[in-house]
Amino acid sequence: MRRVLVTGVTGFAGSHLVDFLLEQGGYDIYGIQRWRSRTENIEHFADKISLLECDLRDATSTRDTLEKVRPDWIFHLAAQSFVPTSWSAPTESLTTNVLAQLNIFEAARHMGLKCRIQLACSSEEYGMVFPNEVPIKETNPLRPLSPYAVSKVAQDMLGYQYWMSFNVDSVRTRGFNHEGPRRGPVFVASDFAKQIADIERGKKAPVLSVGNLEAQRDFTDVRDMVRAYVLALEKCEPGEVYNICSGKAWTIQKVLDYLLGMTTAKIEVKQDPARLRPSDVPILLGDNSKFVRATGWQPTIPFETTLRDMLEYWRSR
Ligand code: GDD
Repeated sequence: MRRVLVTGVTGFAGSHLVDFLLEQGGYDIYGIQRWRSRTENIEHFADKISLLECDLRDATSTRDTLEKVRPDWIFHLAAQSFVPTSWSAPTESLTTNVLAQLNIFEAARHMGLKCRIQLACSSEEYGMVFPNEVPIKETNPLRPLSPYAVSKVAQDMLGYQYWMSFNVDSVRTRGFNHEGPRRGPVFVASDFAKQIADIERGKKAPVLSVGNLEAQRDFTDVRDMVRAYVLALEKCEPGEVYNICSGKAWTIQKVLDYLLGMTTAKIEVKQDPARLRPSDVPILLGDNSKFVRATGWQPTIPFETTLRDMLEYWRSR
């Protein structure tokens, strides 16, 4: 049995990753949570994995956990992941994201732990991308446009540096946007789907609030994304970086239109200035060929299906 530690297990990608690992079998799965973590995403498998109390921002807590588990693989998904929060609380975003990873690396290195670590880096790192740079390759300059993006650049570079300096084996996955059921209600597709479901059941006036609809994002279903994370640790080179994306971009307007096309409710769309960002990444459209060459991965779930599943998720709650 391979011993696997999942940070961020109570979150969106973490819980889908555990679903996938359980389905595959052959894994002894450990997850960490803080005392106040919400557990609704993990209740359906809580008796099939081992849950440990750990705060990754605390070096002692992190080292104790790694000593208890001695994992073969770590999927490091825990993070402050919402871009706007990183403007209202930049210190918190930077500290949480950078320190958590540093504590894992330092613990692993001092213990001489032989393990592979998947790092959930982000397409947000590319930030300001010019029209002649799409589809974006891993070699594109990083021009981060938010404190969150800067925190992910730091995580990414630490991955490279700890491999070069100390042979701490990590694979840096630059995940582009991923969506699906259980997605936090602040992220765009989930936010719009939840507003529609709330309007349909009369919980909300028939006005859907939106931000910048011009932005373009490359969306992958979370279930394809977590499968890619596993392949990354199975097949990718240590210290290397890989884009994980579908290679197709949708404008946020198109996401909105597709969701609105699935309801019969009469809904007015209104821009809320509070939803506009100090600087928004205009386009993220990735080139996944390096990852596909290394692993054979292909996304299998069309984004239309993902959006339908998300709307059904919010309707059923
Ligand atoms: N959240 C939100 N709410 N976004 C909106 C809205 C709205 O009402 N209206 C328009 N948008 C636009 C945002 O301005 C942005 O351009 C796009 O929709 C996507 O926003 P998010 O869903 O919040 O995601 P993100 O692209 O900022 O970041 C996500 O993807 C990254 C990978 O590229 C997050 O999951 C990050 O954690 C992840 O690293």
